[in-house]
Amino acid sequence: MGWPYIGETLQLYSQHPNVFFAAKQKRYGEIFKTNILGCRCVMLASPEAARFVLVTHAHLFKPTYPTSKERLIGPSALFFHQGHYHMRVRKLVQSSLSLDSLRELVPHIQNLALSSMDSWPLNPLTNTFNEMKRFSFEVGILAVFGHLEPPLKEELKKNYSILDRGYNSFPTSIPGTPFKNALLARKRLDKIIRQIICERKEKKLVEKDLLGCLLSWKNENNGEILSDDEISDNIIGVLFAAQDTTASVMTWIVKYLHDDPKLLEAVMAEQKAIHRSNDDGKRPLTWNQTRSMQVTYKVVLESLRMASIISFSFREAVADVEYKGFLIPKGWKAMPLFRNIHHNPDFFPDPQKFNPSRFEVAPKPNTFMPFGSGVHACPGNELAKLEMLIMIHHLVTKFRWEVVGPQCGIQYGPFPVPVNGLPARFWRESQSTS
Ligand code: HEM
Repeated sequence: MGWPYIGETLQLYSQHPNVFFAAKQKRYGEIFKTNILGCRCVMLASPEAARFVLVTHAHLFKPTYPTSKERLIGPSALFFHQGHYHMRVRKLVQSSLSLDSLRELVPHIQNLALSSMDSWPLNPLTNTFNEMKRFSFEVGILAVFGHLEPPLKEELKKNYSILDRGYNSFPTSIPGTPFKNALLARKRLDKIIRQIICERKEKKLVEKDLLGCLLSWKNENNGEILSDDEISDNIIGVLFAAQDTTASVMTWIVKYLHDDPKLLEAVMAEQKAIHRSNDDGKRPLTWNQTRSMQVTYKVVLESLRMASIISFSFREAVADVEYKGFLIPKGWKAMPLFRNIHHNPDFFPDPQKFNPSRFEVAPKPNTFMPFGSGVHACPGNELAKLEMLIMIHHLVTKFRWEVVGPQCGIQYGPFPVPVNGLPARFWRESQSTS
């Protein structure tokens, strides 16, 4: 269980995630206990155990987050809930992110990719993760609000970035600290969102974006609607869930492609063929094209496996639960370890090798869960994959890049990303050929 109170938190966040979990699994098997951030945890490293907690016995395990995170995001955000309220909001989020809705977003995501790449500093070093964060935030805003007036968008961005900086800081109410600033920024965000809600209500606008879906929900039996608090918390929650996750994976993709020139060539060949068929990029990428990128899609899947940016998820046992003769006591955390499963050679041979062709065959059931599983599985997974495919298309057809500085190393923010956000030098392909 490690040291009193801090347990093994330092080891978890200072070692490479593969090392910490794999060493524990090697020593104790697929189920072991530890103490992380003062919480007693049972870690579960097999697909069956993950399914037990997340799917078949999900009612015995509730989602659990530190109170400080709940205060920053908002207590009504769906991922803190279980039961009717959760299912209701989840359906609304899912419908706003359905394949039909995403199809219509393709040209807009594409414009966002192009304009964010246009702003990449070409000569000085680019912090890849920061640039990807900018892009994924824009896509998040698009999915939530559709098109927003630029001044409102700027206000949202400014305050959200203060909130973001406080998210991983020490929770304290001392003025001037990142956490306190984040709480204040959250209040301002809430005000901006309420202003947008008010405008939509006044103009009686019915949109298909997330805000539109949340606003138009009405209980047919009793006329109940979602309160402005519930809408605001869920909007901030989705913006939060969408940004760093997708940006971390995109940063890893840039690295994996850089590290494997042959693979990069294959992806480039696929994307250049599409680019040519679009009249050398004069016509935009279509939804059908994004669904037919076979080589690139496998790179996305393998990046999700290899990086496993959500190494585990947290639940809390609501009763004493027995699993395969082990007791998970009431109040203990249960943590399905996605990363261990994704890096287990029984399911993914030679797991440390980046090998997209392994996805030519579908993974065994419950062994590939980059987006979780069960009632809380990620409703944004199709949007995230679409965003990555569009980003890769424009990256490899227009840019070349080299990674500068340490070629390996990892840091947490809180998701694992290449060290220092992957500093890289990008240049336009036209510059290298002219
Ligand atoms: C590569 C990018 C992403 C990854 C790896 C990812 C991963 C995950 C995982 C593993 C969960 C489940 C957590 C748990 O069971 O505790 C989750 C939940 C969630 N994700 Fe994602 N996600 C990504 C992108 C997105 C995007 C783009 C959106 C929205 C636009 C989104 C919205 C959500 C929401 C709202 C939940 C909570 C669902 C619920 O509690 O019912 N995610 N995500």
